[in-house]
Parts: sequence; C-alpha cells; structure tokens
Amino acid sequence: MNPTLADKIAHAPKAELHIHIEGSLEPELIFELARRNDVKLAYDSIDALRAAYAFTDLQSFLDIYYAGASVLLHEQDFYDMTLAYVERALADHVTHAEIFFDPQTHTERGVPIETVVAGIERALAEGERRGLTSKLILCFLRHLPEEDALATYESALPLFDKYPHRLIGVGLDSSERGHPPSKFERVFAKARERGLKLVAHAGEEGPPSYVYEALDLLKVDRVDHGVRSIEDAALVARLADSRIALTVCPLSNLKLCVFDDMTKHTLKDLLDQGVAVMINSDDPAYFGGYVNANYFAIVDALKLSEDEAYTLLRNSLEASFVTDEERAAMIARLNTYWKQ
Ligand code: HPA
Ligand code: ZN
Repeated sequence: MNPTLADKIAHAPKAELHIHIEGSLEPELIFELARRNDVKLAYDSIDALRAAYAFTDLQSFLDIYYAGASVLLHEQDFYDMTLAYVERALADHVTHAEIFFDPQTHTERGVPIETVVAGIERALAEGERRGLTSKLILCFLRHLPEEDALATYESALPLFDKYPHRLIGVGLDSSERGHPPSKFERVFAKARERGLKLVAHAGEEGPPSYVYEALDLLKVDRVDHGVRSIEDAALVARLADSRIALTVCPLSNLKLCVFDDMTKHTLKDLLDQGVAVMINSDDPAYFGGYVNANYFAIVDALKLSEDEAYTLLRNSLEASFVTDEERAAMIARLNTYWKQ
C-alpha cells in the first residue's frame, strides 16, 4: 500500500475495542510462564507451538488459545501478560483500549477471579501512566451453561464495585455455532439492570439471526465481529441507522477462514452502507499482528482511501465506552493529527 498512508495510519491516535487479553499472550511469554509456574505444555518449543497456529475455524483456534492460557496462575502472570499488551498498543499509537478477559478460563483451573482482575488492573493502571486509557469487559464463555455465567457474574459483583472506573461491561465469546445469544438472556438482563455496558460476539461464524438476538434479546451496545450481518439487508440498514458499531478484526477473520482471502472481506460493503465499523486485533499473538497490522492488511486488500481510513479511526473513538467529554477530546486529537 501507499507508504505515506500506512505511516499516517500507523501514527494516528486510535482506540482498540476488541482485544482478548489472553489472546495477546505471545509464545515466548507462554514458555516463560510455563517454566516459572512448572506447567507442562503439549509443545516442546516455541517453534512447535507457533507451527500449531494453522487454524481452520474458530474452534481449532480456541482449543490452542485455552491451552496457552493454562500457564496463567498468579497475579504477576496476569500483570506481565497485560503490560506486554499495553506496550504493543502504545507502540501502535492506541490511546484507548477496551479489553476483554475470560474469567471462566482461569477460575475452572482454581485461579480466583480476584487474582485475575488484580493483575490485569495493576498493568492497566501502569498503562494509564504511560498514556493508554482503558476499560475492562468481562466475557462469558458461551460454550458453557448460562448457570456458570450467572455464577461468574455473581462472583464478580464485588469487583464491579471495587473497579468502577475500569470494569464497565460484560461480553460473550468462545464457540459461536450452536450457542446463540438467547442462551444468555438472563445474565445479560442482570448486567443491564446494573447499568453495565453490553457487548457480544455475533455473526463471526454464526448467522445474521445471532446478531438480531444480540440486539433484541441481549440489547447490546456493540456487536463484536458481526461481519455476517452483510447477508441480511434489513439488518445492515438497522445497524447503520442505530449506529450500533461492529468491532471488525480482519486478520482474525482471515486466519479463522471466515473469508478465504482478505480481498473478499466485507468491511468495505458495510462501510459503504453506513455501518459504524472499525479495526481491531482480536487475538494478536495468534493471528499475526496487532492493530496497525490489521489496518494495513485491510486498507491494502480493499484499496481503501485516506478518507475511509479516517472514518475507521474515527469510528473507533465514536464507539468507545467513554464520557462525551473524553470522546470529544479524542476526536479533536485525531482531527488535529489527520489535518497536519
Ligand atoms: N471469537 C470467539 N471467541 C473468542 C475469540 C473470537 O474471535 N477470540 C477469543 N475468544
Ligand atoms: Zn473476539
């Protein structure tokens, strides 16, 4: 792509709204933590682990992603993982990040949820000092029963009280097919009553009906991925009218075979029809790049213009869960930068 535009995007202030902190765990850190914690891995070397990152669909990725997370035991481990992401994000000129974590992946191994959040929070507080503002979103694993999500939600209530500035929402991730949003209506209703922000992965591998369920039953504020919405014209029009954003993750979609080639990605169609899409990295340690690499890949493949790149960046700020005042300041900063 045009190197001037690439450079302009790379240095632009931006928000990242779809990043699973466990998906930022690089193979080097997985091995370091395995050694530190005496955890046995199914792979002999960093290269052998990386070689396993040849995914055919979402589930083939999730199996390896959960295995990688098994090395996380202590507060310091969650801190180290999160600080590594903070440093990568700052290097990509991310000024605001809204970060997912999967407590059930850790509590089922006996790691208390308080330990998980304390380590992540300590690193995010350090991130704030270095120029990255952030929010944290607790995700429920949709392959597990709703009762487990409800128990996780109840166990997190003291943490929502303790970290109100940080822990501001709930989300839904893991295996999509066969686990529609409707399965989690009750737990989302509780989170909504509490005034938390709501998001859900929908329309990544699942059909448009899952996006409708996320909107109508869970009443989400944003949809994660949502790329299959393009198959339903009425849904696209509704997303455009409501300005409910889709957090699109191009390299993830490519690696998980949602599209067989980046030139087939539907982001530009969504953008052309007025849907609030932006670019994110999802699980950058597994999918071959952090947020800037995702911008480069999609802008290059779809031959997006400078104006379209600006719209994506601006949408990331518009869709952030920040105050109107903070949003206006972030947009002003982008505009000043973009015009020079
Ligand atoms: N989809 C569903 N669950 C996930 C993902 C994803 O892209 N990444 C981590 N958990
Ligand atoms: Zn995701």
